[in-house]
Amino acid sequence: MDSKISKLKEERKKIIESYSSKSILDTYIDKVVKEITDTLYVKVKEIVEETPDTKSFILVPNSEAGTRKLRSFRAGSYISVKLNIDDMEVSRAYSLSSSPKMALKDMYRITIKRVEDGLVSNYMLDQVKVGDTLEISLPMGDFGYNSLRDEKNVIGVCGGSGVTPFMALAYAINDGLYDCNMTVFYSVKREEDIIFKKEIEEINKRSKKVKFIITLTREENKKYLSGHINREMIEPYIKEFNTILMCGPKALYQTMNEILSEFNIPKKCVHYENFQIDYKPLEEDTYELKVIMKNDFVICECRSDETLLVAMEKAKIKAPSMCRVGICGYCRSILLEGKVKMVGGSMEKDLSENDYIHPCVTYPESDIVLRLDI
Ligand code: FES
Repeated sequence: MDSKISKLKEERKKIIESYSSKSILDTYIDKVVKEITDTLYVKVKEIVEETPDTKSFILVPNSEAGTRKLRSFRAGSYISVKLNIDDMEVSRAYSLSSSPKMALKDMYRITIKRVEDGLVSNYMLDQVKVGDTLEISLPMGDFGYNSLRDEKNVIGVCGGSGVTPFMALAYAINDGLYDCNMTVFYSVKREEDIIFKKEIEEINKRSKKVKFIITLTREENKKYLSGHINREMIEPYIKEFNTILMCGPKALYQTMNEILSEFNIPKKCVHYENFQIDYKPLEEDTYELKVIMKNDFVICECRSDETLLVAMEKAKIKAPSMCRVGICGYCRSILLEGKVKMVGGSMEKDLSENDYIHPCVTYPESDIVLRLDI
């Protein structure tokens, strides 16, 4: 590093002393900095059918589109996939399900389950083919194991496609990236719904540090537990100090929180991945949404049960988004007029008091005027 800085200083000194018309911003380090971007272009190298309604997509850099390398990531991170569907610019966040070590070999894996009426998941499963190029964000998010914060006995709890970040964590632990043990309770309806079935069997056979315990909620099968994850299943794995990681539907979190309170596990030791917002307006209505951009404005409709972000996407506005659950701050906009309901998310109080909102978690309660910084 020191030699790089000396080289840069030397290079800049020469440019300044030569009274050259060449800018000091033309030095090699600035060229490298210009290549730093928050967007990556990847090619779909392979598509693997995991279950009848779930596929994994193996992604590699697309150098022709400008991405020569993939970035490293922490197990538990997600990427946001940006797509143009019927002229709508939409994005969805998907956890990386591959080992962080594979990123060093320029490979990511995301795993997507079909969602009823899910615009993006169904497009990914039905339309995207091997060889297609996708635009994705850099890996982000803070779900996962943190050696400074967490205990060495980790209990994972997940349902359905919520298993995806736990696969990345399992590989990271087995690869020696984290010094902890993890037991993952994984709930699915039937055996055919088990995502990564073969990989899980292999991990259970070989790993001394990671164990998956699968329970089926709609089928009896001697190989697995039956019923929803409950106190009796978890109790034998609870130690004096624990870290609980959860990824799944909100109903799972509620049940688990009741169980965990019986074990006196402090709230600070429980961490959730959140890809969903649950909100039902008191009344169903449709409002007018006026979106003011730098050089333009658009007027569209927004239903009381859809977020301002979804309404903008439907109106073909290229509204920025990443996590879609109010955490990353990427969609931050200014509410100029109107009454809204912001659900969950993590906006600081002083920002919300100054009329900043996150449209990805904001529902209209009147006609709205919104300012977007695009
Ligand atoms: S997209 Fe992340 S806060 Fe809205």
